[in-house]
Amino acid sequence: MNTTPHVLVTGGAGYLGSILVPSLLARGCAVTVVDSFLYGQTSLLDCCADEKLSIVRGDVRDERLMLPLLKQADVIMPLACLVGAPLCARKPLEARSINLDAILMLLSNASKEQRFISPTSNSGYGVGQDGVFCTEETPMNPVSLYGTLKVELEKALLDAGAVSLRLATVCGISPRMRLDLLVNDFTYRAVTDRFIVLFEAHFKRNYIHVRDVARAFHHALDHFDAMQGQPYNVGLSDANLSKMELCLEIQKQVPEFTIMEAPIGKDPDQRNYIVSNDKIEATGYRPQVSLPRAITELIKGYQVIRRNQYANV
Ligand SMILES: NC(=O)c1ccc[n+]([C@@H]2O[C@H](COP(=O)([O-])OP(=O)(O)OC[C@H]3O[C@@H](n4cnc5c(N)ncnc54)[C@H](O)[C@@H]3O)[C@@H](O)[C@H]2O)c1
Repeated sequence: MNTTPHVLVTGGAGYLGSILVPSLLARGCAVTVVDSFLYGQTSLLDCCADEKLSIVRGDVRDERLMLPLLKQADVIMPLACLVGAPLCARKPLEARSINLDAILMLLSNASKEQRFISPTSNSGYGVGQDGVFCTEETPMNPVSLYGTLKVELEKALLDAGAVSLRLATVCGISPRMRLDLLVNDFTYRAVTDRFIVLFEAHFKRNYIHVRDVARAFHHALDHFDAMQGQPYNVGLSDANLSKMELCLEIQKQVPEFTIMEAPIGKDPDQRNYIVSNDKIEATGYRPQVSLPRAITELIKGYQVIRRNQYANV
């Protein structure tokens, strides 16, 4: 396959897509984005001048819309999704149809030559064993509907020869910003509230910067033959940190940040694990953005973003 294929990116106006799409265009790829613009996001406006970009406003569940677009594509990156356990719990029927059925429909209509590179999630590892790294061989044990749908999806992806990127919790600034992601959320609280109340403070997670996620997609594109039909954890190997450790990392840059603990909640996915990223690193992939650098970037971005539209502050 040539190095600048035509890529169909569903959900391309999302948090990940808004970083990935410009990077694919910069590489010289023709890119077709399908997105329902669920959040009213304007993140791809900067890319509209690029002649190689097409944007289709629509729903990935619409077969009549999707099948002709699928036909044109060499590579498919299916990012359209109702993301996160709380949203899927609120909209279970839509979650199944968007997060799973719509991608199964693309897989079953694709030709053998078409390549799928898909994000999945390492949240399915659930409660890990103390001190034992989860690898791609570790059984998945999803708790939420979101996690269960990702695990079901991954089976179908791997059967079809796709590359599945099991992403850690993503962080960093994107033009379609998400403040509900752990590092982004905690740093926002540090900058704006100066305090946080943690529950399950010792629960450990793995993290990765949104630009390193985009790099992982490019890496899979460049090494597709060697990587196909396999899942890969994608995270920072030196950032398997508990929520408390993450807060202490943020406190190094926001010294007035006060951290408290109380039993005020429960993670719907019970994510408490440490993850090995050796498998993707053995293929030559290395993340470039450290957690401290991601935090610095977020602190800067939060000078711009404030959730204060209904107050004169
Ligand atoms: N951000 C993370 O930490 C993380 C971690 C693991 C996996 N992922 C996966 O990466 C993918 C992208 O996540 P994100 O963080 O960019 O989320 P996001 O919510 O920002 O992006 C999802 C996009 O899908 C679009 N969309 C939703 N329903 C649609 C529909 N029916 N038709 C067309 N478009 C629709 C939305 O408008 C949005 O632009 C998802 O599959 C998610 O599960 C993300």
